[in-house]
Amino acid sequence: MTEAPIITVRGLRYRYPPTLPGREAEPVLRGVDLDVARGEFVALMGPTGVGKTTLCLALNGIVPQSTGGVIGGSVTVLGHDTRHTPVPQLARDVGIVYQDPESQLFSATVEAEVAFGPENLALPRAEIAERVAWALNVVGMAASRGRSPAQLSGGQKQRVAIAAALAMLPQILILDEPTAALDPLGRLEVFRVIEQLRNDQDMTIVMVSQDPEHVAIFADRLALLAEGRIVAEGPPAELFYALDQIAAVGVAAPQLAELSVALERCHGLQRRFMLLDEAEATLRTQWEPEP
Ligand SMILES: Nc1ncnc2c1ncn2[C@@H]1O[C@H](COP(=O)(O)OP(=O)(O)OP(=O)(O)O)[C@@H](O)[C@H]1O
Ligand SMILES: [Mg+2]
Repeated sequence: MTEAPIITVRGLRYRYPPTLPGREAEPVLRGVDLDVARGEFVALMGPTGVGKTTLCLALNGIVPQSTGGVIGGSVTVLGHDTRHTPVPQLARDVGIVYQDPESQLFSATVEAEVAFGPENLALPRAEIAERVAWALNVVGMAASRGRSPAQLSGGQKQRVAIAAALAMLPQILILDEPTAALDPLGRLEVFRVIEQLRNDQDMTIVMVSQDPEHVAIFADRLALLAEGRIVAEGPPAELFYALDQIAAVGVAAPQLAELSVALERCHGLQRRFMLLDEAEATLRTQWEPEP
């Protein structure tokens, strides 16, 4: 028997409270269905304003418990209905790294920031210290533990926000565009950290990303959000080749996937690729002249 999904979203509909009195807001989510299995890494992509952040917030109960608004359908995380389970209780299992790390960092030092969550769990001091050291190590920020988060670069803040979520040892980690403020190497590092967490902790990952190249390498499944629904989902290695569908949704495919589809059309490429090593192998076998 396969294990039940760790996250189940069924027919999720949501509209924020009116911003102008007497005027109903447009629904943001209009029937989202999504299952996530334990240990899976699901990437969520979609154009700006489509509701990606809103969906993330529905997974940790902030939507609708803190935001208000009108919700329909259901979100079940580890068997808990996120509409009714108190947000602090959900936070033990569901870590979240918000899109804007500034909004998440409020402590005087990096160390205090990362210790905040475990302290709220009233854990023994030694365990808190251990978790803080581990989390800062994972994100490569151990040397900055005494600094003020306010003085860090955008990428460093992003890392501290990830460490703060990790220190709770959540079963599920939600990351809302965690690499937006990072340079290419920093981005790769974040994806490597995620990979390591999955291997070591069997952590389940839901990540909003605008980074098709890395999603193609690291994610198990890609879900496309458009018009308030998941309009397509599947392994990145399949979905990213559906270039027309991807473009229609307003999402970028990996450039190598576009190149390989073009080479297939015009030059009879025999096997598509979207990763560099696949490209190398395919091009070498198909076109390298015999010595
Ligand atoms: N607190 C709020 N109150 C009212 N409307 C909101 C609120 N937060 C977001 N919205 C609206 O809900 C819609 C979806 O916003 P959301 O932030 O979920 O989109 P997103 O896909 O994460 O966009 P982005 O890619 O820009 O981060 C937008 O139209 C936005 O204006
Ligand atoms: Mg967003």
